[in-house]
Amino acid sequence: MENHATLKFFADFIEAELGIIYVEANYFQLEHRLKDIAVQLGYSDLTALHHAASAGIIGPMKSLLLDLATNNETSFFRDQALFRALSESMIPDLIKDGNKPLLNIWSAASSSGQEVYSIAMEIDQARSVNLSVPHMKILASDVSETILKRAEMGEYSQLEIQRGLSSKMLLHYFDKNDQDKWVIKSIYKNGITFKKINLLHYWGGIGTFDIIFCRNVLIYQSVENKIKIIKEICNHLNPGGYLLLGAAESLFGLSHDFEQLVHGGAVFYRKK
Ligand SMILES: C[S@@+](CC[C@H](N)C(=O)[O-])C[C@H]1O[C@@H](n2cnc3c(N)ncnc32)[C@H](O)[C@@H]1O
Repeated sequence: MENHATLKFFADFIEAELGIIYVEANYFQLEHRLKDIAVQLGYSDLTALHHAASAGIIGPMKSLLLDLATNNETSFFRDQALFRALSESMIPDLIKDGNKPLLNIWSAASSSGQEVYSIAMEIDQARSVNLSVPHMKILASDVSETILKRAEMGEYSQLEIQRGLSSKMLLHYFDKNDQDKWVIKSIYKNGITFKKINLLHYWGGIGTFDIIFCRNVLIYQSVENKIKIIKEICNHLNPGGYLLLGAAESLFGLSHDFEQLVHGGAVFYRKK
């Protein structure tokens, strides 16, 4: 195995940037991935990469290191009941007073975009049966620039499409391009903006939202980081706004600022 100090240097950087901890038992995995990065950036070995990184981790090296540590697993309509709850419960509640011209939504760890396009499709479907459902503005963000670019392209392989999308929805919302990839129709990208945001660092002036999806990202964080991120999310939610977490995540022990709701088996949270 490579010099322990070299691996610890990169593990410390990843922990400071992403809150993701590489325990020493997993250093062999880290070493393998770092060696790939050294090759991609044209360094002779890991020691040379370490030497260059000591002068500052910026640009492509930083992007590759963040990509190395993140898990981008996602699919269309992941946790389907939650999307039903979005159109059957959360949106009707948000528009019940009739004074919401636009729904402001944030997909805070959007990965390759399946989540954000699922939100757009669900709302479009809801509007097709109820014209009082307002248009939406969605902010899609992720810490990984590479994955964010993929999300913005909205282009998916047959395999990715098969994960969660029915043929009916596919044919309605996607076109096939000449590389045999399915591309979301540009009209359904209207109102969506993409921005690099690290949930652990300053988010910038992103405003407030009616609904925030923060799914399958807190799971990798320490309790301390989870509490900090949820507090900030709460500050960025309008009163009565909704927070949606992943199926294996909950606010238990992390916040008293939300009430837990259940609809059709889906669990979600409303800001008190
Ligand atoms: C497992 S995916 C979840 C994607 C989607 N939300 C879903 O549930 O299907 C986790 C995403 O969180 C992103 N991520 C990890 N740490 C992050 C951080 N500190 N700030 C923002 N995004 C982060 C990763 O790049 C990855 O795309």
